[in-house]
Amino acid sequence: MKVFITGASSGIGEALALEYAKRHSNNNTIIGIAARRSEHLQNLQSTLQSRYNIQCAIYPLDVRDSHAMANAAADFIQHYGAPNVLVACAGVSCGTLTEHVEDIAAFKAVMDINVLGLVHTFQPFIASMRAAAKQGENAQLVGIASVAGIRGLPGAGAYSASKAAAISYLESLRVEMAADNIAVTTIAPGYIRTPMTAINQYKMPFLMDADVAATKFINAIEHKRRFVVIPWQMGWVARLMRFIPPFLWDFAMKKAPHKKRLDWDWL
Ligand SMILES: NC(=O)c1ccc[n+]([C@@H]2O[C@H](COP(=O)([O-])OP(=O)(O)OC[C@H]3O[C@@H](n4cnc5c(N)ncnc54)[C@H](OP(=O)(O)O)[C@@H]3O)[C@@H](O)[C@H]2O)c1
Repeated sequence: MKVFITGASSGIGEALALEYAKRHSNNNTIIGIAARRSEHLQNLQSTLQSRYNIQCAIYPLDVRDSHAMANAAADFIQHYGAPNVLVACAGVSCGTLTEHVEDIAAFKAVMDINVLGLVHTFQPFIASMRAAAKQGENAQLVGIASVAGIRGLPGAGAYSASKAAAISYLESLRVEMAADNIAVTTIAPGYIRTPMTAINQYKMPFLMDADVAATKFINAIEHKRRFVVIPWQMGWVARLMRFIPPFLWDFAMKKAPHKKRLDWDWL
């Protein structure tokens, strides 16, 4: 089993790496992990090796850098072969308001990381995954979107737009890859307890712990789900969100809390 996960230095990505290791310990498994904070990746690597006897390759990089991502993919493929599962989990979230000139940079960074980051992650792996799929190996691309991409959330224009783009992009990719037997799974999480949501000072319905979420994400991946919302209760909310008319959406969102705006340069 070969798995490659971006955004593995914290939150959902880290929980996915741990859950994959738990399920496949001592099983000739290799997990590649990527993110910018190399010390977090090193800690996770030690945990995977000492606790689960899992071989782990680390790639400190920024998913905005397509060359760095291509180098990481080339290294992984050369040493271990094409991944069976490639999870593009790296992402950022912050409040943005169009009226603030300084938020333009935040809009750009969020779109770059959450949308182009997916393309940079998948592109350099596809040829080798296609060849592996032809040999009968499992080959699956997984993108982490969000329920926030289903309708525009006030105060989160950049994040909602990026996740809406991610959902559509992943759908295009799924249809494109079908003839090559490469499955594409889109996961749209609701609220998961991670550093990303720790700063939210409002009520988060159906908030789920990252380790619990990771088991459900991997179950969905193993079942080759095309599009799934986790937790399931949020799936019903998402269905409702999709179908209510704009005037009702405006009314429902009138007093919705806004995500905190941050200095763009932390992105
Ligand atoms: N938590 C939720 O409720 C929730 C809900 C819906 C969707 N999601 C999505 O789930 C994914 C993971 O989020 P999380 O909740 O686990 O948040 P998190 O704990 O903040 O993790 C985000 C991960 O993405 C990585 N990352 C961010 N920018 C990056 C960049 N430019 N290059 C490489 N890696 C980058 C971070 O690592 P470095 O900082 O070390 O680079 C970190 O590992 C995101 O795509 C997020 O949008 C989360």
